[in-house]
This record gives sequence, structure tokens and C-alpha cells, in this order.
Amino acid sequence: MNPLDPRVDRGAASAIQRDQPEVPPADPTPEERAAADAVLARYPEFRRDQLLPLLHEVHARTGWFSLELTRYLSQCLGVPFADLYGVISFYALFKTVPSGKTVLRVCNGLPCYLHGAYDLGLRVQEMLGVGPGEPTPDGRLSWEWFPCLGQCDYAPAMLAGEDEIRSVTPEVLEKIVSGGTHATSDR
Ligand code: FES
Repeated sequence: MNPLDPRVDRGAASAIQRDQPEVPPADPTPEERAAADAVLARYPEFRRDQLLPLLHEVHARTGWFSLELTRYLSQCLGVPFADLYGVISFYALFKTVPSGKTVLRVCNGLPCYLHGAYDLGLRVQEMLGVGPGEPTPDGRLSWEWFPCLGQCDYAPAMLAGEDEIRSVTPEVLEKIVSGGTHATSDR
């Protein structure tokens, strides 16, 4: 019998499943485990429709999802790793690599591009001394390009942490990078 046949005998299918090598328990760092456990405790009756808010809360504490943290969540929640990783990697605001405490996201949509966003990105790169996606040595900031922020009327636009900054000028940028204003952290 073809195991892909939907009429396949489920007993046989689960026997096949049982024969697979066991997936070893996930091994997140103590900090990741503590952050995940604190959030998981708030969802004792976890339902699949609570996945996004739960992930938001974990991300707010850890700043990113390592593979081990993702595997730990997958095992605790009973959500297949591939499903969970698919959700996490789909949303641009969820990080799968370490980032700065505050992430500066420079919009590179067409209206912003036409209003100088490219030069803005280059200026951010020059000021931080790191390329897109890389944290500064002190871990305070990182920056990246981002698709349309929905603020096209106020191009060029960017996000500093969770703050939307409209009509960004070099002076405003200077203040943001120096931490003088709009410097909310992502976590
Ligand atoms: S293109 Fe930049 S906010 Fe829409």
C-alpha cells in the first residue's frame, strides 16, 4: 500500500513513525530557556491561534530565535519544527540571527527610494560601521533594509525599534544613531 494514499492504514503509518530515530531534546541556552519558559507559562492551554502572540513575547525577551530555541519551542508546543521555523522566517520582524538591541530599518520601497532612502541607508552604514544585519560591536544597534512601512506619504521613512520615523532628514538620523531620540529598544 502506498503510504501517501490517504486511505492508508493509520496504524501502519504510526508504526513507520515510531521506527524513525528519536529527535534529541532541544538544548537552548539557559537564558533562552528561561525566557521561553516564562512565556510558555502564560499559555497553559496553548492553542495554535495563539502562536503569533506567543512568538512575539518570546522574541521581545530574546531578540531573536536561534535554531535551538526554535526546536525547544517546537517540542514544548507540539508544533512541528518545519512549521514553526516557516512561521518565524516568514515574518521580517522576527530575527533568526542576533541583532542589535535596537534595529534601525530603512525603507527601500520605491517612494522612499525616490526620496533618498538609498543615501540614508549608506549614511546609517557609515555611522554604525557595520553592514546590514550586523550588530555594532557594543550590541546597541543594527540596521537593515526593509520593504514598505506603509508611510509612503512621508518618504523617506524608517523604523527605530518600534518607532516609525517619517520624513527622515540627516539631522534626525544623527539623533537616532547617537541615541538622542527615537531610541526605543526592540527588547
Ligand atoms: S515605500 Fe517607504 S514607506 Fe512605503
